[in-house]
Amino acid sequence: MDLIVTKLKHLRFFGVRLSSLLSKSLFLIVTALIIRTLFLPESFRFRTRNLHEFDLLQSKSGNPRTRFLEVPQIVWGLNNQKIAFARACLTARLLNRTLLMPSLSASLFYKEIDQLQPISFDKVFQFDKFNSLCKGFVQLGRYSDLHNHSDIVTVQKGSGRRWTPERDLDQLHNLKHDESETIRVAGKNPFLWHDHWPVKDYAQVFECLVLVEEFSNEADKVVAKIREFGSKSKSKSKSNIDSPYVAVHMRIEKDWMIHCKKLQQRANVSEICSSKNEITTRVSNIPGLKTPTVLYLAVADALLEDGSILNGWGPGLHPVEKKKLGVVEIYKNHPYLIQSAIDYEVCLRADVFVGNSYSTFSSLVVLERSQKMVKMGVKRGCEIGMNVKWPSFAYNLKGEFGGPRPWMTDFLDSSLQAISYGSNNISC
Ligand SMILES: *[C@@H]1O[C@H](CO)[C@@H](O)[C@H](O)[C@H]1NC(C)=O
Ligand SMILES: *[C@@H]1O[C@H](CO)[C@@H](O)[C@H](O)[C@H]1NC(C)=O
Ligand SMILES: *[C@@H]1O[C@H](CO)[C@@H](O)[C@H](O)[C@H]1NC(C)=O
Repeated sequence: MDLIVTKLKHLRFFGVRLSSLLSKSLFLIVTALIIRTLFLPESFRFRTRNLHEFDLLQSKSGNPRTRFLEVPQIVWGLNNQKIAFARACLTARLLNRTLLMPSLSASLFYKEIDQLQPISFDKVFQFDKFNSLCKGFVQLGRYSDLHNHSDIVTVQKGSGRRWTPERDLDQLHNLKHDESETIRVAGKNPFLWHDHWPVKDYAQVFECLVLVEEFSNEADKVVAKIREFGSKSKSKSKSNIDSPYVAVHMRIEKDWMIHCKKLQQRANVSEICSSKNEITTRVSNIPGLKTPTVLYLAVADALLEDGSILNGWGPGLHPVEKKKLGVVEIYKNHPYLIQSAIDYEVCLRADVFVGNSYSTFSSLVVLERSQKMVKMGVKRGCEIGMNVKWPSFAYNLKGEFGGPRPWMTDFLDSSLQAISYGSNNISC
């Protein structure tokens, strides 16, 4: 800036001297114009080059350069990936570093590393939006931001029973003093790292995750179909555009049943697996639920073949799934991760959500819905039930009048344990 001001002063001085010699002659104006065209472009070039040098100088001395954290590819289900991503962000925050934008995985293979289909974070979530929403909390960087690709230290996270959360945290605190431009954490995927952060920190990261438009538009289409179905199933006179819907995340597929029976044995509880009968009965008994209403059943594709999940619901409840809605094609065009992300959006936006408290998918949907409630000033959604916007319920837990139990995330919880591994503690 200073440079340009000086240049302009010179010009004016020159001009003033000339004008005193040949007062107000046309000649002067022409000369001034010529000088301007000759000098200004050069002075601009000069200025840019100088600022650049100034930048470099500053980063070498005094002002600290941005430092980065690199994490392994993020894998498994959508919600495990979200938790892993948040854990990587919170690690970066602890180290006062920018997280290098990680790769997510488009497919759900657990073992075959070559089939994990890495997909860049910014293909799924909005990069700039993330940084603007999370400003002052955590930031994402790109590999092109790096100055020196060799200035990197690789850190192996410990493993096994003796690698306690305390040791893990000690390691992180020691890394705070590392001056390398990049710290690369090798080995385990971040979902398996120890957890050191309260639920509210995770919630803050999740809040900054906004789907790219291409995929949120797909969710818009599905939601529009559901609401349209709702308007049609009401009497014509009552039909309105904003027909409400209930989303039920039904986990009754074979894989889940085997998994949840094992969980029940290990935890010595009987509340994890809900049969289809239990789910339909509890949902039909939600106190205060306004009928008629559409039920969107978010189920595994395997269950779409068997039409029986559409039967057995109470009067005034009109169940639909992807097939009946005619939206299978919308999902089919996308890999696993995106299909899951679309279903997640549909559940998030539902007027009422009912899920299983042992499912990470359900737990994260409820977390985000609870966050919206808190923002509207609701402190505890439990007693309020249907009298509040964004109510959620757990069908695997018995509530009043044979309905499901109201469910709201406890943001004061000191760890994400309950959410990432399932729990019957739903703070209601
Ligand atoms: C964190 O890093 C920034 C530069 O990236 C620096 O300005 C700031 O002082 C650091 N904060 C701490 C607490 O070290
Ligand atoms: C890059 O980092 C390496 C390792 O710290 C260092 O030896 C090298 O001098 C650095 N190069 C530049 C251009 O700063
Ligand atoms: C399982 O829980 C029941 C009561 O809920 C208790 O009576 C029983 O002893 C427990 N079994 C084990 C192995 O802990």
